[in-house]
Formats: sequence, C-alpha cells, structure tokens
Amino acid sequence: MDGPAAPLRCRLLLAVCWAAAAGTAAGAKVLPPPSNLDYSFIQICTLNWTWNPPENVSSSCDLEYSSDIVIDEVLQHKREWSKSRFRVTDTSLNEEMRFKVRSECKYGNVSEPSRWVETSLLPKGIPGTAAVDLSCIWHNLEYMVCTWRPGENTSSDTNYALFYWFDGLKNHKKCSNYSMHQGISGCTFNLSFPKVTSTYPAISILIRDDSEEIRPVCASKNPTTLVKPATPRQVMLSKINDEIYLEWSESDTFPENCLFYEVEYHNGDLDTAQIIKVENNYMSMPSVDHSSKYIFKVRAKPKPECYSSKLYSDWSEEKSVGEKVDSTFHFVLIVTIPLIVAVSMIILLVYLKRLKILILPPIPDPREILKRMFGEQNEDSQRCAKDDQVHAYNRLIKEEEIHSLILTETPVCANSENEN
Ligand SMILES: *[C@@H]1O[C@H](CO)[C@@H](O)[C@H](O)[C@H]1NC(C)=O
Ligand SMILES: *[C@@H]1O[C@H](CO)[C@@H](O)[C@H](O)[C@H]1NC(C)=O
Ligand SMILES: *[C@@H]1O[C@H](CO)[C@@H](O)[C@H](O)[C@H]1NC(C)=O
Ligand SMILES: *[C@@H]1O[C@H](CO)[C@@H](O)[C@H](O)[C@H]1NC(C)=O
Ligand SMILES: *[C@@H]1O[C@H](CO)[C@@H](O)[C@H](O)[C@H]1NC(C)=O
Repeated sequence: MDGPAAPLRCRLLLAVCWAAAAGTAAGAKVLPPPSNLDYSFIQICTLNWTWNPPENVSSSCDLEYSSDIVIDEVLQHKREWSKSRFRVTDTSLNEEMRFKVRSECKYGNVSEPSRWVETSLLPKGIPGTAAVDLSCIWHNLEYMVCTWRPGENTSSDTNYALFYWFDGLKNHKKCSNYSMHQGISGCTFNLSFPKVTSTYPAISILIRDDSEEIRPVCASKNPTTLVKPATPRQVMLSKINDEIYLEWSESDTFPENCLFYEVEYHNGDLDTAQIIKVENNYMSMPSVDHSSKYIFKVRAKPKPECYSSKLYSDWSEEKSVGEKVDSTFHFVLIVTIPLIVAVSMIILLVYLKRLKILILPPIPDPREILKRMFGEQNEDSQRCAKDDQVHAYNRLIKEEEIHSLILTETPVCANSENEN
C-alpha cells in the first residue's frame, strides 16, 4: 500500500541526492580567483592592471582570465578574455574606475569560474575642478589645437597644463603654446606623421594643474576623426572664351586623392548659392549669364576613404567675375541720381527768370527809344522840358494799358520828374 508514497520518497531522495552531488561538485570544481590584483601607470592616461595566477588549478583546466571595467558604478561591457596576467586600459582619471577579473577554464566544463576580484582607482582632487569640454582639432595634418574650459569649482589662479602622448612617442610631452580666448583655454602642439601613414595612433591628452586640489582629466582622441584641412589658397578665377575657370593650390600635407572640394557660387543679384563638389583642385563652368556678376569660394573636406573626419576647411576668400556693377555702387547711383536731378532743378528755377528774359526780351517800343534818345540829348543840358514830361507821362499811362510789362523800364527822367 505504499504505492503513492514510494515515488514521493524517491523524488525527495533524488532531490536531496542531486543537491548533495551538485554541492560537492560545485565545492570541488570552482576555480580559485587570481590574486594580488594591482595597477600601475605606464603612460599619462594608460594603466597596466596586473595579477597573479590562482593556485592549485588542475592540469585539465586551460586557464584564462576574464576581465571587465566599471566606471562610476556602470559596467562598461568591455569584457576581454586572455591568458596573459595583465590588461592595459585607458583611464579618464576624473571618474571612479573599477577593474574586475576572474579565472576560467577555457574548454570543456571542468570547473566553474572563480569569483570576481576587484580593485579601483579613485579620482584625486576636488569634484568640479577638472577641465571640461575638451575638444581637439587636427589642423591640416600639421598641428593639433585642443581647447577646454575650467571646471565650475576651479579657483581663478588655476593654471591647467596639457600633456600628450601617443604610441610611437617615447615619453609624453608637455604642450607649451597656450592661449586664452573668452574664458576658453587652448594649447597648440605640432602633430604630424610620415605622408605614407594610413593608420594613426590614438592621442592621449591629459589636463591637470600642479595643485593636488585640481582634478586631472584624461581623454583619448582618434586623430583621423579630427582632421580639418587648411583653407584653399591662391584661388584664381578667369573667364576664357565664355568659360569660367577656377583654380586653387593643392595641399602639400595631404596624401594624393584624400581631399575633395566644394565650390560655392552665386549670382551677385541672388541669395541662393549653388554648390559643386569636385575632386581636383580646379573647376570649369560653361558660360553663364553675361550680364551677371558671379562670386566663387571654395573649401576642402577630407575624403571618407582616408579620414573619418566630418570637418571642412574654412571657406577661401571670395572671387568674382562679370561686368555687373556691385550693389554698393548701385546704391550710390540710386541715391545720387535723384539728388543731382533735384539740385539741377533748383538751379534751373533760380535762373529761369533770367532765362525767360533772355529768351523773351521785352519788345522795345520805338517811341520809347525816341524818347530815350531825346532824354539823352536833354541830359546834356541837365534838365527835362516839363511839357515833354507831361506828354511823356500821358503816353506812358496809355502804354501801360497796352503793355504793362514794358512799365518795368523806368523813364529816364523819372528822377527829375519825382523831384518836380
Ligand atoms: C604590464 O605589466 C606586466 C607585469 O609587470 C608586464 O609583464 C607587461 O609587459 C606590462 N604591460 C605593458 C603593456 O607594459
Ligand atoms: C594547494 O594544494 C596544496 C597541496 O596540494 C595545499 O597545501 C594548499 O593549501 C593548496 N592551496 C590552496 C590555496 O588551496
Ligand atoms: C557544465 O556542466 C553542467 C553540469 O555539470 C551543466 O549544467 C552546464 O550546462 C555545463 N555548461 C556548459 C557550458 O557546457
Ligand atoms: C562643486 O562643489 C560643490 C560643493 O563642494 C559640489 O556640491 C558640486 O557638486 C561641485 N561641482 C561639481 C561639478 O562637481
Ligand atoms: C602658437 O599657436 C598659435 C595658434 O594657436 C600659432 O598661430 C602660433 O604660430 C603658435 N606659436 C608657436 C611658437 O608655435
């Protein structure tokens, strides 16, 4: 009657037995961890993490080490397996960096991996004193310019210094050409490699101050992403047989076929610009609107086959071709022409009266001329006959009715008449 009880007991027993077996197996087969985990700086921003092998590892185990990195409590998932007892990593120095390693058997299922062993590198100095916004540009494959801002908790007397190192340089170097512009610090150092080089080492940059309170900061820069070509020079623009030809000097620092160019041109009257991509250091264009002025400029960009940089050079100086007067001259014309016309009009009006007299002189009256002649004769004797004057006066009144304009001519004897 123990039918149903037997399987239950059996199952319980099995569970216990399995658990016991698993327990003993685990106890026997878990690998011991590596020991003496430590680190040392081998370059300004490079650490060598080292450890000793675990003891009493069975010969059936093909031992290897698995390691990973935790930065500010965040696992970086940079897991690596290796047989060597060290691992080289970069460090940023302004964050807590934890390194963990364990031993594992590579093939088969001989033993369980060991527990993790860890050690950490804590940042030095006061929080908020490390340089921030570090960015570098590699100009024309010749020199690198790095810029940064002081940390918000930095005192004003902080003098950050920049150090750099890359694989191939025996010792790190200190940058010496510093600059300061609107609160942004910078330093320039020469950086060039033989022209045949196709792969470039990462550049380690360390910024720190001699003071213990200032937190140092490290960054690793991939130079091919930072390439900025020089501005195209000696841009020449000519117009031959209705064809526009643009040429500029080739770069002497870039390997051949590692640059392309963008030519931007726009009609002097329009705001919209056209962009043409060219592979050579010249460009020609069939004739365009003859009456228009065209403005050209050019810039260079590294080809993606050579460099993974997205940086363009600055635009070259502008060159123009065409007869069109430029807009300032246009403006001057628009303002001055009406002004000149207005002034001329005023002058014209002022002289119009004289002009009118010149064009339409008063019709001389023969009697007037006779009278004048007599008057002149009488002038010799210095007096006018009263009868004559009365006659003349009457005549004048008559004349006034007919040609009032002629009255402007004063009779010669008017003065003596008034005296009388
Ligand atoms: C790291 O340290 C170990 C042990 O001292 C040494 O054998 C190894 O060559 C070092 N690695 C580098 C890249 O210097
Ligand atoms: C390694 O094995 C030896 C003897 O086989 C033993 O004396 C020693 O305690 C063991 N070491 C460890 C760490 O288990
Ligand atoms: C290793 O063996 C255990 C039982 O001993 C098994 O559960 C596990 O899946 C095995 N692991 C691999 C990777 O073969
Ligand atoms: C600057 O210092 C204050 C006070 O010590 C601290 O609370 C703050 O987090 C620091 N700033 C940064 C960016 O760490
Ligand atoms: C220092 O850097 C500036 C650009 O930041 C550069 O114009 C100047 O030539 C450099 N001076 C020296 C001595 O290298």
